[in-house]
Amino acid sequence: MIPLSIPNISGNEWLYVKDCLDTGWISSVGSYVNSFEEKIAEFTGAKYAVAAMNGTAALHLSMQLAGVKRDDYVIVPDITFIASCNAVSYLGAEPLLIDVDKYTWQMDLDLLESFLEENTSLVASNSDEGIEIVRSHLKTNGKCIGAILPVHVLGNMVDMDRLTAICTKYHIPVVEDSTEALGSTFKGKHAGTFGIFGTSSFNGNKIISTGGGGMIFTNDENLAKKAKHLTTQAKTDPFEYDHDEIGYNYRLVNILAAVGVAQMEQLPGFLKRKKEIDTFYRQSLESESLRFQQVGKHVEPNNWLHTMWVKEQRPMIEHLLKNGVQCRPFWVPMHQLQMFKDCQFITENQISHQVYQHCISIPSSTNLTDVQVEEVVRVVRGFSS
Ligand SMILES: Cc1ncc(COP(=O)(O)O)c(C=O)c1O
Repeated sequence: MIPLSIPNISGNEWLYVKDCLDTGWISSVGSYVNSFEEKIAEFTGAKYAVAAMNGTAALHLSMQLAGVKRDDYVIVPDITFIASCNAVSYLGAEPLLIDVDKYTWQMDLDLLESFLEENTSLVASNSDEGIEIVRSHLKTNGKCIGAILPVHVLGNMVDMDRLTAICTKYHIPVVEDSTEALGSTFKGKHAGTFGIFGTSSFNGNKIISTGGGGMIFTNDENLAKKAKHLTTQAKTDPFEYDHDEIGYNYRLVNILAAVGVAQMEQLPGFLKRKKEIDTFYRQSLESESLRFQQVGKHVEPNNWLHTMWVKEQRPMIEHLLKNGVQCRPFWVPMHQLQMFKDCQFITENQISHQVYQHCISIPSSTNLTDVQVEEVVRVVRGFSS
């Protein structure tokens, strides 16, 4: 079976992991964690990067530090991986779901803007520190929109200038779910560096992997310090077991960060290979009945997971699997899941359902050989209904 999206372990991973094992520095303290943070901050241009044990933890903490409170809404696109909405729920907040664009499969900014225009008003209140905070509140029930979570689905991005302008106008803090978009840029600026916070995931299927791992990006020194504090049980003293708030055991361990450092060394090569595969798939397969994700203007995507929109999704999936090509349908839209079915879902044409019914992800690993990529194309072309 030609795999869908697997790690590419072909650099210094063994060497750096051996170093951890030889020296005993395998746990949550060690030089590889710092070095991984530095490398990724340098690569993305984020002022600060704080390592976390996975992308979900990074999202949870980022939203907490962005000020999301119990009973707030957090705006999320209806097409995303479940972790985005789960992280919102951990804070006692509720996802407010916005339908996606039919071609880019990202949050539909027209829908977002008209929803905010018609349904919200600005309200000022004082924070715990006595600072005045203005936020959008829903006219119907007075609840606050605590944050928006643009998800850079498959490494693509929305028009970040427009999103930023909307969120500034409506006083909505932006936390980017850039977990899939390491290496993607809009007008040359990296995904994850537009909002108060951005995030990364390094799970097994991402463009670089540490097995499991995540990162929080921010340009605010104070917030970066708080993020690190909260990932390490909010301890205030290296000797005494003294803690000043409820923290988490969310820090990435050194042995996994060692893998991350080795992966970062290879990231430019991985990005190049993803682009080659993307170009080949598009040139070989695009037709009237098959199209790939439309890339937004000014976006240079990382081409993380090649995904095609076909007419007959389930028969095509069956055909691919029968012929040795691993593939997956797209995520079930959030509003269709048991836990989120009562959430507000803002839609005009139920696009997320169509995306779910028509899209298929096909092999995208950076270590695919040319022969394997050609085989995927041959099998897809061989489909007849
Ligand atoms: C869109 C999105 N959000 C969040 C996550 C969560 O990341 P992790 O699996 O590292 O917790 C992932 C990846 O799995 C993802 O694809």
